[in-house]
Amino acid sequence: MTERLTRAVRDVLTRPPRHVAGVVARERAILALVVPLAFLEAALDGMLTLSYRFLIDRAIVPGDRRALVAILAVLAAAVAGAAGLALWRDRVYVRWVARAVAAVRSAIFDHAQRLPVSYYAAHGSGDVRSRLSSDVAWLEAWLVGAVNTLLLPALSVLVGMALLVYLLPWQMAVAGILIWPLALIGPRIVAPRAGAAAYEQKAAETALLGEADEALAAHRVIKAYELFDAVGARFDAALGTLSARLARAGRLATLVERTTVISIYLVQVAAIAVAGDLAYERQLSLGAFIAFITVFWSLGWSIVVLARSAPSLVAAAASVRRVDELLAEPADSAETGGDAAPAIRDSLALDGVTFGYDPGRPVLRDASLRIPRGAYVAIVGPSGSGKSSVLNLLARFYEPQQGAVRLDGADIRRYSTRTLRARMGFVFQDSVLFSASVRDNVRLGRLDATDADVEAAARAAEIHDFVTSLPRGYDTPVSAATLSGGQRQRLAIARALVRDPAVLVLDEATAALDPVAEAAINATLRRAGRGRTTIAVTHRLGTVVDADLILVLRDGRIVEQGTHGALLALDGEYAGMWRRQEGITVSGDGNTAQVRPQRLELNPMLRPLAGQLGTLATRFVARRAAAGEVVVRQGDPGDRFYLIVRGVVTVTREQPTGQPVELGRLADGDEFGELALLRDAPRNATVTARTDCLFLTLSRADFLALLEQAPDARAHVEAVARARLAGS
Ligand SMILES: Nc1ncnc2c1ncn2[C@@H]1O[C@H](COP(=O)(O)OP(=O)(O)O)[C@@H](O)[C@H]1O
Ligand SMILES: [Mg+2]
Repeated sequence: MTERLTRAVRDVLTRPPRHVAGVVARERAILALVVPLAFLEAALDGMLTLSYRFLIDRAIVPGDRRALVAILAVLAAAVAGAAGLALWRDRVYVRWVARAVAAVRSAIFDHAQRLPVSYYAAHGSGDVRSRLSSDVAWLEAWLVGAVNTLLLPALSVLVGMALLVYLLPWQMAVAGILIWPLALIGPRIVAPRAGAAAYEQKAAETALLGEADEALAAHRVIKAYELFDAVGARFDAALGTLSARLARAGRLATLVERTTVISIYLVQVAAIAVAGDLAYERQLSLGAFIAFITVFWSLGWSIVVLARSAPSLVAAAASVRRVDELLAEPADSAETGGDAAPAIRDSLALDGVTFGYDPGRPVLRDASLRIPRGAYVAIVGPSGSGKSSVLNLLARFYEPQQGAVRLDGADIRRYSTRTLRARMGFVFQDSVLFSASVRDNVRLGRLDATDADVEAAARAAEIHDFVTSLPRGYDTPVSAATLSGGQRQRLAIARALVRDPAVLVLDEATAALDPVAEAAINATLRRAGRGRTTIAVTHRLGTVVDADLILVLRDGRIVEQGTHGALLALDGEYAGMWRRQEGITVSGDGNTAQVRPQRLELNPMLRPLAGQLGTLATRFVARRAAAGEVVVRQGDPGDRFYLIVRGVVTVTREQPTGQPVELGRLADGDEFGELALLRDAPRNATVTARTDCLFLTLSRADFLALLEQAPDARAHVEAVARARLAGS
C-alpha cells in the first residue's frame, strides 16, 4: 500500500499531472512573463551581495570616496528596481493564480457533471466535493506562495552559484557548488514517505467527509432510530484515522525541513572554516571573503526556504494528483457518443433484462415489457419491486447486465444518452427546485426555451394563472413564492413539458400529494400526455385505472399485464392489491379515511367477526405520521393494528448485534401489527414512515369488546393468531 503510494507521489513529482497541467496551461501567457521577471529579481539580489566586495576592495580599503558614492548609487538603484519589480510581479502572478485555480475548479465541476451515475454510486458525492474544495484549496494556497517559496529561491541558488564561480578560484567554486547536494540527502530519504503520508491523510479527509455527508443526508433516519451513538462512533473512528495520519504526515513533513536545515548549517560551518583559512593566508581578498560568506549564507538561506516549502509542495502534489485522477475518470461516453436518438415510432421495450445495482443482487430478473407509442402505461407493484429501476434503465442512467432496452427494436446503446434523454420529460416524487426564478426553473427543462415556450409549458401544466398571480410573476424567485406540494409538482411538470417530450416519465409524481391535489394533477397529466407516450410508475392503483396498459412488477419480474378490467378478471396479484387499496377511502384533504367492511374480510384475523365487521369498521381511527417518524418501535408494548391508507413505511428488525436490518417496505393498502389485537406482546419489529403517512388504526380494547359479542369467532381468531406466531 505505502509502496504504491510512494510510487504514485514520485510520479507526480517527476511526471507532470497531464489533466491539471492541460487546464492550467490555457492560462500560460502570464506565467511566461513571471519567470523572467523573477530571474531579474534574483540577479539584482545577487548584485547586492556582490557589491560588498567592491565596497571593501575598491572603495573602503583604498580610501576612494568617488568609487564609494558610485557603488552606493548603483546599489540604491538596484534595490529600488528589485522592489518595484517584485511588487509588479506579485500582482501579475496572483492574478494568474486566481484564473488558473478557477480554471481547475471549473474543469472539475464540468467533468463531475459528465461522470456516469455509477461513479457516484461507487464513490459518493463527498469524493468529488473534497477534490473540488479541499484539494483545490491546497493547490491554490501552494500556488500563491510558489514564486516566493520555490521559483525565486531556486533562481537565487543559480545566481549564487554563478557568483561563487566569479568570486573564488575555480576548484573552490566547484567544491562550493558540489557540497550542496550533500545537504539534500536527508530530505531525499524522507520526502517520498512524507508525500505518501500526505496522500493518505487526504484520503482520510475524504472518508470523514463521506461519513458526515451520509449522516447529514440521513438525519431523519438517525433521529428515528436514535442512532446518534452508532453514527457518532463511526464518525469518531474516521476522525481517529484522520488524526493518526495527520500526525504522521506532519511529523514526516517537518522532518524533511529539519534534516535540510541541519545539513545546511554543517555545510556552512565547513565552508566558512575553509574560506576563513584562505583569507588568513591572504589567498583571498578581504572583500572577496566577506562577499563569499554573504553569498554562501544567502545561498544556504535560499536552500532552507526551498526545504521549508517542501512539505507544502508535497501536500499540493498529492492534491494535484487527486484532482488529476478525477479528471482522468472517463466521462459518461454514452452522453455524446453514438447516433442521435430518433423520436419513438413504434415502442420502447425491455427485452429479457436482468439488472442489479450490485451485479450480484439483481433487482430486475429477465424482465420483458413493451410500451407502445402514444400509450399511457402504468407500472405498478409493491414498494421495492423494481419500478423505478425500470425507469433508470429506460433513461439509460444504468445499463442492464443482460438483455437490452430497445427503442423501435434498436438497442438504445446505439444512441447518445443526451439525445435519448432530450426526448423524455421526467417528473419525480420530490421535485427539486433550484434557487432561481420560476421562469428559470421551468427553463431548466430546455435551456434555449423562449419566454413564450416557458409560458406555454406552464399553461399545459395548469400553473400559469397561479404564476401570474405572484407579485413578480414569472420572475418571482421560487424561494419567495410559498408553493404547495401540488404547485411544486406543476412547476416540475412544466419543466418536463417545455422540452415537448415524446415520452413523459412519471415516478410516483403525485404520491406525496393529498387526494384532491393528486386527482387534479393526474387530470392535468392526462391532458398533457395526449399525443405523447406516458410511463407512470406508482404504487397507488386508484390513479391508473384508465391506463391503456398496466404492468405489474413483483420482485423484479413482470408478473401480470393488461388493462385494469382484464387484470381484475385475472384475479391475481393486481386484483389482490386492488382489493386491499380499494376498500379504503380517503377524505379530499387526506386527513381522514374510512374502511369498508368488505376490506376487513381480507384479513384472516378479522374475517371470523363476519357479522360484526360493519361495526368494527367504525372503530378505526386515523393517525398521521411524518416522514422519518417511528410508528411502532421494536420492544415497545403494542395495542394497535395498522392499515396504511397512504404512504410508504419500512419495517426493520434489530439483530442481536444491535444492527437494524430492513425486512421490507409496506405501502397503501398494506397492514401491520395485527398480533397486538389479541395479546399484550412487545412489537417484534420497528416500523418507520418513509414518506408522510396516513393510517387507520384499531385498538385492542375496541377489538376485544367486539370479540366478546361473537363468542364462536374467538376460537377462530386465536387459531389464526397462533398460526401467525408460529410462522413469523
Ligand atoms: N441506487 C441504488 N443502489 C442500490 N440499490 C438500489 C438503488 N436504487 C434502488 N435500489 C434497490 O433496488 C430495489 C428496487 O428498487 P426500486 O426500483 O427503487 O423499487 P420501487 O421503485 O419499485 O420501489 C430495492 O431493493 C432497492 O433497495
Ligand atoms: Mg420507486
